[in-house]
Amino acid sequence: MTTPEQAPLPDNIHHYTSISEVPYEISKYWHQRHDIFSKYDDGIWMTDAAWYGITPEPVASRIATDLAGQAPASKTVLVDAFAGAGGNTIQFALSGRWSQIFAVERGKWHPEVLKCAKHNAEVYGVAKKIFWISGDAFVELPRRLKKLGKSTVVFASPPWGGPAYTDYEVFDLSVMEPYSLLHLYRSFSTVTKDMVLYLPRTSDLRQLAMYDDEGEKLKVVHYCMHGASKAICVYFGATGGG
Ligand SMILES: C[S@@+](CC[C@H](N)C(=O)[O-])C[C@H]1O[C@@H](n2cnc3c(N)ncnc32)[C@H](O)[C@@H]1O
Repeated sequence: MTTPEQAPLPDNIHHYTSISEVPYEISKYWHQRHDIFSKYDDGIWMTDAAWYGITPEPVASRIATDLAGQAPASKTVLVDAFAGAGGNTIQFALSGRWSQIFAVERGKWHPEVLKCAKHNAEVYGVAKKIFWISGDAFVELPRRLKKLGKSTVVFASPPWGGPAYTDYEVFDLSVMEPYSLLHLYRSFSTVTKDMVLYLPRTSDLRQLAMYDDEGEKLKVVHYCMHGASKAICVYFGATGGG
């Protein structure tokens, strides 16, 4: 019996099935592929760069559960400002908590990343629950979402400047590349104060404490896998659940 030939994937998009195909720099991530996407073998698409920033499924799922439970009922719209290959967006959609989900990924330089996210959401059966926006989050959020204001929660997992963030015992969020904590906070707080930032586990908590909302406590949660912290989430405004 012959199997139908697989259609070639779009340029710069891969579904690596054997270590011999994988560029050396990302082999470490590829070995964790089933932790990253439990449905990897169902045909998950990735760009080579997307491996570095993707949120592994158990972490993304836990964040989605936590946010679903913590956010007040009046919050019905979720915006994933940096959707990447869909790690977080898919889990937000699977949670069933949000009446609308917007996923933003810059399209101009890397259109293939959004293609991966859409395709991966199809693999998980949730692509139709998500509004996909190809563009710059700093332009698209204020432009499209200002009117949604009060009902919106923004989740942002920005780039951390590459794997070098692990070199620091305490990570200085004021020099995070390409967007500092101040830049992220100032930009997105024009849309809503209710935001969640996904940041390096070693982030300088003293810098975060400066953003406490008029004396309210900020909630910071470590998300762990295999007994080690992968990252933190900082819950601003009403997203921390009070
Ligand atoms: C750390 S990754 C996000 C990973 C995502 N949470 C996941 O699990 O797949 C950051 C993403 O932000 C995108 N990005 C960077 N600057 C952006 C901008 N100004 N607007 C929209 N997307 C941007 C990058 O292309 C990258 O895909």
